[in-house]
Amino acid sequence: MTWRRLCELTELRRKGVMRVDMDDGEYLVALIGERVYVADAWCTHQKADLTMGILDGTRVKCPLHQAVFELVDGSVVEGPSGEPPSSIRSLRTYLVKLEDDQVYADL
Ligand code: FES
Repeated sequence: MTWRRLCELTELRRKGVMRVDMDDGEYLVALIGERVYVADAWCTHQKADLTMGILDGTRVKCPLHQAVFELVDGSVVEGPSGEPPSSIRSLRTYLVKLEDDQVYADL
């Protein structure tokens, strides 16, 4: 496992959802209830920024063509523009750990 620090939990509590840009990728980090979820920031359809989407429970709706992803496992709940979920790839998600007010993910 390669745990890498993404952000402070305090900052995430203020924002709820944020994008963290690392050298090798961009990540969506969301605090939902007391759990933190980390996934790739870009929609698998046409790379819209999912941190600009709408959160509904543990699901995020893409701002561009409204595909819906489940942040628990990255699965596609609704495809883009009414297409079936199988029309696009699922979202990559990452294991998370919290330590000393820091959010880490196994990237
Ligand atoms: S870019 Fe996300 S649904 Fe099209």
